[in-house]
Amino acid sequence: MNGHVRITDVSPRDGLQNEPGVVSTADKLRLVGLLAAAGVDEVEVTSFVSPKWVPALADATPLVTALAEMLGRSDEDVGGRPEPWRSYFDSDAACKFSALVPNQRGMESLIACNVDPRDEDAVATPLSKIAVFTAASETFCQKNLACAIHESLTRFKPVIALAGQHQLFTRGYISCAIACPFEGPINPNAVADVAEQLAELGCAEIDLGDTIGAGTPETTRAMIEAVVARLGPKWLRDYRLTLHLHDTFGRAADCVRTALYLGIRSFDGSAAGLGGCPFAGTPEKPAPGNISTELLVQTIHDEGYETSVNTSALKQAAAFAREIVTKSRAHAAALRAAQSNPAAEGPTA
Ligand code: HMG
Ligand code: MG
Repeated sequence: MNGHVRITDVSPRDGLQNEPGVVSTADKLRLVGLLAAAGVDEVEVTSFVSPKWVPALADATPLVTALAEMLGRSDEDVGGRPEPWRSYFDSDAACKFSALVPNQRGMESLIACNVDPRDEDAVATPLSKIAVFTAASETFCQKNLACAIHESLTRFKPVIALAGQHQLFTRGYISCAIACPFEGPINPNAVADVAEQLAELGCAEIDLGDTIGAGTPETTRAMIEAVVARLGPKWLRDYRLTLHLHDTFGRAADCVRTALYLGIRSFDGSAAGLGGCPFAGTPEKPAPGNISTELLVQTIHDEGYETSVNTSALKQAAAFAREIVTKSRAHAAALRAAQSNPAAEGPTA
C-alpha cells in the first residue's frame, strides 16, 4: 500500500447548494450521518452564506444545532442515538465536520450555533473546521462573492482570526484553479498567487477547485506544480493541499491519478456525484457535478492507496443522497407546474 489518502465528502454542501427544491434539515442530518458512518474523514455539512444567494442551504444554523445535539447525545439519553449515528459511534471512525463561511456575518452565525449542548465551555464543537472561498478568476469572484479577489481576502482576515480564537482550522478554497466559465483558461501562476495570499492569511490548508471540470491531467499537473513551487513541498505533507474536482468530461479520475503521482493526499468528492456552484452555470449550461466520492475512492484504491472509507456503506449514503435530490426535484417541478396552472392540485409549499 502506498499510504493513506484523506477523503472529504462535500455532498451536503456542494451537492445540495444548487438544488431547486427543499431538502429537509432532517434528511441533510441523515446524509451527514451516513457519510460519517461510511468512514469518510471529513464532511462539509453546509454554508453560512446569504440565504438570498443560496436558498438551499438557508438552514445552516438549525442543521449545525441538530448535529451538535446528535453528537452530544449519549446512549443513556432517552432513545439513544438513531441510525446512522449509532453505527458511527460504534465504529473507530472519527469524522470531522466543516462548513463554508464567506464573511464575518457568516462566521458569527457559525460560532453562535457551533456549541456542544452539554457544556457551553466544551471545545469539542461539532464543526472543527471552516472553509473560506475565493477564486483565481476576477469575474467568477464577482459572480460568487460580489467582490474582487483582493476584497474577498480582506474579508477573510477577521473570519480567520475568529476561527483561531475558537480553535477552528481554516481551509481556503480557490475556485477556477484550471479554468473559469467566464474567462476561460486560468494561468497556474494566478492560482499560485492566491494560494500564497491564503497561506499568509493563516489558512492551514488550501483546496484547489476545478469548478467546471475543465481539467486534464496536463493542466492539473501544471497547476499543482505551480502551487507547490510557490508554497514549498511541505504543503504536500499533512493533507495541506486538497484537490476538488468536478467531473464534466469524465476526466476527473485521470486528474486524481496525476495528483496522487505529484504527492497530493487529500481529495474532495460528493456522494452520487451531486454538486455544482450556482454561480458557475447558466440555464442552458448548468454547473457540473463533483467527482462522485464512490469513483474517487475506487480510483484511489485502484492506485494502491488506502482510505478509511467502507465502500458498501458509502454506496448506501450515495443512494440516500440520490433519493433526497430526486424527491426535492419532483417537489420543485410540481410547485412550478402548480404555479403555471393554479387550478391544478399541487404542493402548497
Ligand atoms: P452581498 O450581496 O454583497 O452581501 O453578497 P451584502 O453584505 O450586501 O448583504 C446582502 C444581504 O445578505 C444582507 O441582507 C445581509 O445581511 C445578508 P439584507 O439586509 O438584504 O436582508 N448576508 C448574509 N446573510 C446570512 N449569512 C451571511 C450573510 N452575508 C450577508 N454570511 C455574500 C455577499 C458573500 C453574502 C454573497 O455573495 C454570498 O452569500 N455568496 C455565497 C456564494 C456561494 O455560496 N457560492 C457557492 C459556494 S462556492 C463553490 O461552490 C465553489 C467550491 O465548491 C469550489 C469549486 O468548486 O471551485 C467551494
Ligand atoms: Mg465545487
